[in-house]
Amino acid sequence: MVWRVEHFDEIDSTNSYVALQAKAAIGEGLVVFADYQHSGRGRLNRQWSSPPRASLLCSILLRPQLEADGLQLVVAAVALATRAALVRLSGVRPQLKWPNDLVVGENKLAGLLAEVVGTKPDLAVVVGLGVNLTYPGPEGVNSTSVLLESGLTIAPRALLDLVLEELETRRAQLDNEDGRRTLRAEYERALATIGQAVRVEQLTGTVVGRARGVDAVGQLLVEVDGVIQTLGVGDVIHLRHGEVEST
Ligand code: BTN
Repeated sequence: MVWRVEHFDEIDSTNSYVALQAKAAIGEGLVVFADYQHSGRGRLNRQWSSPPRASLLCSILLRPQLEADGLQLVVAAVALATRAALVRLSGVRPQLKWPNDLVVGENKLAGLLAEVVGTKPDLAVVVGLGVNLTYPGPEGVNSTSVLLESGLTIAPRALLDLVLEELETRRAQLDNEDGRRTLRAEYERALATIGQAVRVEQLTGTVVGRARGVDAVGQLLVEVDGVIQTLGVGDVIHLRHGEVEST
């Protein structure tokens, strides 16, 4: 893959910009990163803000040959690449929290926002990534930064270059059945969520149970009263011991 990296001092949102490029039929491999976003977006219409140069703020345009339900594996590819890059650069080894976070313990280090543009065969996925480098995250939220975890100040561009290097193999894995199986297995191993008692909040209601794994396309498998439920979306709360019964 030839990555074409564009940099902005300031932008509204790298995801919004890359989505516009995707609609204009720009090819896979566009990567946009910014020092500052004045309208950064998180999942579920939340805001995502960070002071200038304190986070890696970037979006990657991918065009994998997948059905729309393969979106979670695309997110997994970028999340796993980010994790591997962080290990190499800082020694910090975050786990993944389903569906879209990188965490150290229960503290959020990074979040991803994936958006689908267009339809097959011209389907594009914009994967946005925000990694707290020196910014410890918003107040009132359990969050952390690479600086807090390692004492190191990492430049956003240095991390981005390694993320793209690590994404190379994982992007290729998305294109065939064998590769997707390998990716799914790496994803499951990296997920802190698996084995945990969880509460999953969805628009349609709340599911409380124990996370048992992910299916072939990365959906979360939660055991509730001995029955496995397959969840495609939701906010996951890891419950402490005893909370399952009391919720
Ligand atoms: C989340 O945890 O809610 C996802 C956060 C994703 C934030 C990144 S920062 C770069 C890219 N541009 C955006 O507007 N959002 C993503």
